[in-house]
Amino acid sequence: MVTPLLLEESELAKIRSFFPILVEKVNEKPLIYLDNAATTQKPLAVIDKIAHFYAHGNANVHRGVHALSERATEEYEDARAAVAGFIGASDAKEIVFTRGTTEAMNLLASCLGQAVLKDGDTVLISEMEHHANIVPWQLLRDRTGIKLAATRITDEGRLDMEDFQNKLETLKPALVSIVHVSNSLGVVNPIKQIIDSAHERNIPVIVDASQSVPHFDVNVKELDCEWLVFSGHKVFGPSGIGVLYGKYDRMEPLPPYQGGGDMIESVTLEKSCFKGPPERFEAGTPHISGAIALSAGLHFLNSLNRKRLHQHEAALLQLAEAGLREIPGIRIIGEGGEKASVVSFVSESAHPHDIASFLDAEGIAIRSGHHCTQPLMIRLQLPGTARASFAFYNTKEEVDALVATVRKIQDLFG
Ligand code: ALA
Repeated sequence: MVTPLLLEESELAKIRSFFPILVEKVNEKPLIYLDNAATTQKPLAVIDKIAHFYAHGNANVHRGVHALSERATEEYEDARAAVAGFIGASDAKEIVFTRGTTEAMNLLASCLGQAVLKDGDTVLISEMEHHANIVPWQLLRDRTGIKLAATRITDEGRLDMEDFQNKLETLKPALVSIVHVSNSLGVVNPIKQIIDSAHERNIPVIVDASQSVPHFDVNVKELDCEWLVFSGHKVFGPSGIGVLYGKYDRMEPLPPYQGGGDMIESVTLEKSCFKGPPERFEAGTPHISGAIALSAGLHFLNSLNRKRLHQHEAALLQLAEAGLREIPGIRIIGEGGEKASVVSFVSESAHPHDIASFLDAEGIAIRSGHHCTQPLMIRLQLPGTARASFAFYNTKEEVDALVATVRKIQDLFG
């Protein structure tokens, strides 16, 4: 587990200066942005890259012989290589650009559903999944004869590893698809142990890394997962771009997800022949500026000391949890173990939406509700939670403001 340690003031001020939105005012108050699990703010490196591409480099990729198109193609393919490097993939061909985690999951459900999963096969997810790792499998189940099962979570909001092992043993799933870090609670699942246990039984694993990649290094070689997905906008990149990593030998036998330009070798009116991965899975003009700007964001992240950023986030989490714990009537959901910098809490007297609205009036942005994890809320018997999620650019003073304002809300409602 990482040692909590705040960044020096000057270091933090420098980091904050890269994110222009952080000096905005909201409701006439300085913005305190604590909704980073929903989406992260963008550094100048990303913002400038988008503007630069459209001002100086815009052209379609993989199609033109003209210089601008060749340059755009090179930048787009360099971005693929940068993503591969960022997650430790050995080959850029193992990176497919998607619209985000949701599209990556739908792609996998659709393609594995056609070529790999058979009638009666079970896909094992968990009760803490984001809807993006539930609904695509339900749609597949309703179209085919697959079954869907979910590993239970404990009352503390942790994955029940005993239940996971039992389900591997008794249900003999054909596939495990599991979240690395819960977006709602911030709890970190023992992902390496999960993957190793599944592999002992020859079960391939999909990892939803949307909420882990923004906080700490994730290496697909070390994890040895078959697939891993994440969204650009949660890792300081633009929205509308995401990543599907797939081991080449797992992607190669899969059929296309969508048909169209750029994914074919040849087309006649009778039939089409398809390219190999990754092009086979990227029909149509891709989100070129998104991929390039995502790569700029990842380069920016790599230029920082990510281990120190992780320590800073851990310190912010520790401060927030300690402060909230002291407020009578406030209960933190998801405790007792490793966590990313996300704190979900409920009040005995105030609804999560009231908490979020009250905080918003003070310029503090958090998310409230079910966080796209309704089954988790049902399991925990909660209508929703208030969730503050920190990034490395957040400050101790911002955490103090959160805690002080929640205390005021609690005094008012309690
Ligand atoms: N999945 C995002 C969240 O957790 C939107 O808020």
